[in-house]
Amino acid sequence: MLEVKDLTVEVDRKTILHNVNLAIDAGETHALLGPNGSGKTTLLMAIMGMPRYRIKKGQVLFQGKDITKLSIDERARLGIGLAFQRPPAVRGVKTRQIVELCLGEKNAKKVEELARKLNLAAMLERDVNQGFSGGEIKRSEMLQLLAQNPSFAMFDEPESGVDLDNIAVVGEAINEILQKERIREKKKAGLIVTHTGHILDYVNADRGHVLMEGTIVCEGNPRDLFADIRAHGYEECVKCRRC
Ligand SMILES: Nc1ncnc2c1ncn2[C@@H]1O[C@H](COP(=O)(O)OP(=O)(O)OP(=O)(O)O)[C@@H](O)[C@H]1O
Ligand SMILES: [Mg+2]
Repeated sequence: MLEVKDLTVEVDRKTILHNVNLAIDAGETHALLGPNGSGKTTLLMAIMGMPRYRIKKGQVLFQGKDITKLSIDERARLGIGLAFQRPPAVRGVKTRQIVELCLGEKNAKKVEELARKLNLAAMLERDVNQGFSGGEIKRSEMLQLLAQNPSFAMFDEPESGVDLDNIAVVGEAINEILQKERIREKKKAGLIVTHTGHILDYVNADRGHVLMEGTIVCEGNPRDLFADIRAHGYEECVKCRRC
């Protein structure tokens, strides 16, 4: 579904990612771990095609097609979606409007049903993310992704700032976006950035990657990686010779 090959990315002339390789098959969900500032958001932004994140070297392939030079809207239309770590507020655009736009004319009526699922029915007439609480912003990102229905979805710290009851709601939304209950169809794939791993209690991840200083230093079962990092810290992760 997605392949990142030897990717080097710079932001404002500073190189953040160095020769990153990553492959995610259809039907798989991967977790991306790493300390603050290691480049997790940069990787997701580069895959999505955000203009500030300049690809200096390497390729991004989506369903076998080289998308390295495509614009962000072209990538979104192909079926790539991103729930931002810190999305901007969009003044003058109501949440209902953006969700209806994502749903398309045929499905626009589903907006209420989706909003109810995410406990956001009361927010539909408010401007996108304007004055939303931290948890409401995360659920609003889920609502937009559910409406967009991408084949490959990325989630940048989806549970951060979300209360315990709503983590389950966010987890259900991720499972629905990734069609986890229809795993045999293997049409979707996902990449989840998480610091705490709490979201992985709700969403099963197949593989984990550890990013440090812009380089993937370890890969493996995400639960094992979390257990090791919790016990020994990220610094030991680099020294460990398991990978
Ligand atoms: N415009 C910029 N100029 C210089 N450095 C930048 C710029 N934008 C981002 N960076 C740096 O790139 C590094 C990677 O940032 P990134 O947001 O990808 O980290 P992250 O792994 O997502 O961290 P966190 O866990 O805190 O979200 C950071 O050190 C950040 O300060
Ligand atoms: Mg980040």
